[in-house]
Amino acid sequence: MPSKRPSMSTERSLLLTLAIVMVALVVALPLTAGQAHATGTSASGQQGASSRRPPQSPQNLQVLPADMSRRAVIGVMRGFASALGVRCIHCHVGDDPNDLSTTDFVSDEREAKRVARVMMRMVQTVNDDLLAPGLTEAGRAESLEVRCATCHHGNSRPVSLGDVLTEELASDGIDAMLARYDSLREQNYGGWSYDFSEGSLLRLAGRLAATGNIEAAMAAIDKNLEFHPNSATTRITQGQLLGQAGDMEGARAAFQECLAADPEMSFCQQMTDRIDQQQQ
Ligand code: HEC
Ligand code: HEC
Repeated sequence: MPSKRPSMSTERSLLLTLAIVMVALVVALPLTAGQAHATGTSASGQQGASSRRPPQSPQNLQVLPADMSRRAVIGVMRGFASALGVRCIHCHVGDDPNDLSTTDFVSDEREAKRVARVMMRMVQTVNDDLLAPGLTEAGRAESLEVRCATCHHGNSRPVSLGDVLTEELASDGIDAMLARYDSLREQNYGGWSYDFSEGSLLRLAGRLAATGNIEAAMAAIDKNLEFHPNSATTRITQGQLLGQAGDMEGARAAFQECLAADPEMSFCQQMTDRIDQQQQ
């Protein structure tokens, strides 16, 4: 069952994590093997020749090569944890994320571990069976590969900011949606999990308006302006929404703000002119 060759993505994340393991080794240096073991720190404590226990080899590999060393497996695992923004015990049975000596890595009890296997096979299939041969056929010699982070970018579920906010709106309403945005922004701004650029809330507002929830769309626009006050495109959507709601004065003001933010936006001038004509 196991011995498909490790895919490139595996090798790449191995390379990456090798660097991390090297750092861990250096950091762990002052510890004796015994101490490293007692504090439950990483694989590095089990590597040295001075280690009293032989390195335990993996017993339940179904996707990775069955004879892969424990150290190499842990390298891949660090890549998973980082791509999903989780700790080891998200997938492995254990209570204390900081004490891996109590973690049962062999067990398949946690659903996330079983789902992760599905994901590993999916990534393998995409890269080895679809991308590589398909792109070769299309005349490309080289290609990027799909990796866990390609979709997950630091989230255990690969959802966008808009997805999370839409779920929050559906379950708890507009105020909850706005509060969720604030707390996500506070925790994640500058990270790779969510996109806080002006497009996120703008697209969400567009989707909400299309489903007829103008109130929520307006709330999303106001929130966007709180953080991107000079976004001309946000002002356009604001003007359109206000116009739809019959507030022509508000709409005109929004198009004026658009021009203030970006005088080159001739569309905003056209909209202002049209409103002025209608009101004469
Ligand atoms: C996203 C889920 C996920 C995360 C997070 C994760 N693992 Fe794993 N782990 C797996 C899966 C799936 C396997 C089995 C792979 C296979 O079947 O080829 C596995 C297997 C292992 C094994 C081999 C167990 C055995 O004996 O068969 C070890 C050791 C391990 N993981 C350690 C870790 C460590 C240490 C961390 C944290 C740095 C970690 N894992 C984080 C999903 C995960
Ligand atoms: C092509 C995009 C894609 C790639 C690549 C991908 N995933 Fe996923 N993953 C998903 C989607 C979509 C879901 C959500 C499934 C659902 O909840 O219905 C998910 C869910 C998961 C979950 C369950 C999370 C939870 O808490 O419910 C785990 C664990 C997981 N992925 C691990 C991985 C690992 C490990 C890799 C790399 C080997 C990976 N994924 C690569 C798209 C992807």
